[in-house]
Amino acid sequence: MKNLLSAVDLSAEEMNRILDESARMKERMRAGETDTPYAGKTLGMYFEKPSLRTRVSLEVAMHSLGGSAINLEAPAPGELWKRESIKDQARVMSRFVSVVSMRTYSQAAIEEFAREASVHVVNALSDFAHPTQALADFLTIREHCGGIAGKTVVFLGDGNNVARSLLAVAALGGARFVWCGPDSHRIDAPFVEKVVKKRPDADFDEESDPAEAVRDADIIYTDVWASMGMESEAEAREKTFMPYQVNARLLSRAPGRARVMHCLPAHRGSEITDEVMDSAKSIVYDQAENRMHLYRGLFSLWAGDWKA
Ligand code: CP
Ligand code: NVA
Repeated sequence: MKNLLSAVDLSAEEMNRILDESARMKERMRAGETDTPYAGKTLGMYFEKPSLRTRVSLEVAMHSLGGSAINLEAPAPGELWKRESIKDQARVMSRFVSVVSMRTYSQAAIEEFAREASVHVVNALSDFAHPTQALADFLTIREHCGGIAGKTVVFLGDGNNVARSLLAVAALGGARFVWCGPDSHRIDAPFVEKVVKKRPDADFDEESDPAEAVRDADIIYTDVWASMGMESEAEAREKTFMPYQVNARLLSRAPGRARVMHCLPAHRGSEITDEVMDSAKSIVYDQAENRMHLYRGLFSLWAGDWKA
C-alpha cells in the first residue's frame, strides 16, 4: 500500500494490518522498546489548516522511529500551490523525504500529489476525508469495546470528513454505523453508495431522533459543527445542530456501556458539554493518544516496504 488517501480505498485486510501493527507498536513503546527504521530519513508535512493532534502526533511518531520531520505551512488557504505546481512539488519532495503528510482543503490536491510522488503520501485531513483519524478511532474502539465487529457507533452531527471516514472504516470492520443529524447535513449519497458497493454487507443507518439513535450505542461520537473553512457558517450551524448536542440528558438514553468520542478540537458547550467531556464515559484523550500510535504503526509498515 503506497498511500493512505481515503479510508474507502482500503481493504479490510489492509485496515486490520494497520490496526494490528499500531497496537503492536503501542505495546513496544509502552515497554520502552526502541525501533529506528527511519534513522536518517525525513517526513515532509504540508499543513494548509491549523492542527494540534495531527501535527504533533506525526512529528512525535517520526522522531520515535529515528527520523525527523519538516513542516511546510501555508501562509493562507491555497498558498501552498501558488508558487509551484503540485506536480513539481511532489517530484522534488520525493527526492528529499521518505513520507509526505498533507492537510489540505482539497482532496484532489492530495490525490494529484500522490500520483506524482514516488514516496508514501498520507492524508492528514482534507475537506473530504480524515482516514488516519478514523483508523486511530477504531483502534480505540477495539481497545475499549473488545472488538469492532457488531459494535454500534452512533455519530451525531455533520456528515463531513470525519463522519465519512468513520463510516468507511466501520464498514470494513463489520461495525454498525448510525448517523444522526439534520437532513441538510447528511453524509453525501455518492459516498454512501461507494461504501455499500464495496461492502454490500455494510450496516449503515440514518436516524433523525438522537434519543432513538443512541438507544443501543456502544460509542457515541461527535465532531465540530463548523469544520475548518466553514467559520462563516458557524452561527447558523449552532442553531441547526443544537438538537444533536451530546449532553448528559442524551447519555441517559444510551446503555450504561456507551462511551463518548470526539476527534477534537471540541467546542465545549456546543456539540458536547463539559459534563460529558469530563465524565468517566469520555474516552477522548485515549482517542487522541492513539493518533500517534496509528502513525507509528503505519510508518512501521511502510518502513518494511509494505506491498499489501
Ligand atoms: N483531530 C485532529 O485532527 O486534530 P487536529 O486538527 O488538532 O490535528
Ligand atoms: N471536521 C473537522 C475535523 C477536525 C479534526 C474539521 O475538518 O475541521
